[in-house]
Amino acid sequence: MKKIIIALDGPAGSGKSTTARLVAEKLGYTYVDTGAMYRAITLAALEQNIQLEETPLTELVKTIEVELRQSPKGQRTFLNGVDVSERIRETDVTANVSVVSAISSVRQKMVLLQKRLGESGGIVMDGRDIGTVVFPQAELKVFMVADIRKRAARRYAEMGNTNNSIEDIAALIAQRDILDSTREISPLTKADDAVEIDTSDLTIQQQVEMILQLAEQKISSSC
Ligand code: CDP
Repeated sequence: MKKIIIALDGPAGSGKSTTARLVAEKLGYTYVDTGAMYRAITLAALEQNIQLEETPLTELVKTIEVELRQSPKGQRTFLNGVDVSERIRETDVTANVSVVSAISSVRQKMVLLQKRLGESGGIVMDGRDIGTVVFPQAELKVFMVADIRKRAARRYAEMGNTNNSIEDIAALIAQRDILDSTREISPLTKADDAVEIDTSDLTIQQQVEMILQLAEQKISSSC
């Protein structure tokens, strides 16, 4: 059975990561969350008090190591050998990650790592530019979208104990949407051959089923 590449792109809160993880589990594939890599670099910059600008960030990425490791608990993210999987979800990282991910040297290094991770197929990778830049040859590309209010409500529920209101979260997401979609390099955009799924009124189970069906068609046609 051929092991294909599934690229899942879309904005924050569209349901990519949960769906990607479950699809990978069902198919026995590896799930890779590329956003975690950009978050790890952002954390390094914040910890080292580095200005979020091209030259200092270009120097920074030369000196740090970002690694994704698979574990029974799912993907874990390591920064210079330290597990930062939880820390990179905090608000300071989220608020700054889109500025860091717009820098070309940062993207070059991460895209290289991502390509290596998917070399032999059998992968579900989620991000913003997977179908357009990282794996333009992916057998299945899905672009997930959802209403901003629904996306903010999902994030709010995920965050559990938070001082932020749904409105605050919606504003932060909207700001990231703009930065991610309008940047010069690899903006968030739907690949011409991607299937668009609006998840506003879908359950996770429905999303997973839709993608599994598409994947099964691709797998059997590429045998
Ligand atoms: O989980 P959430 O949707 O909040 O974001 P994420 O997937 O963790 O990605 C965080 C940020 O990393 C995004 O807002 C983008 O700025 C950047 N990113 C990117 O530029 N390219 C990717 N392939 C993945 C994420």
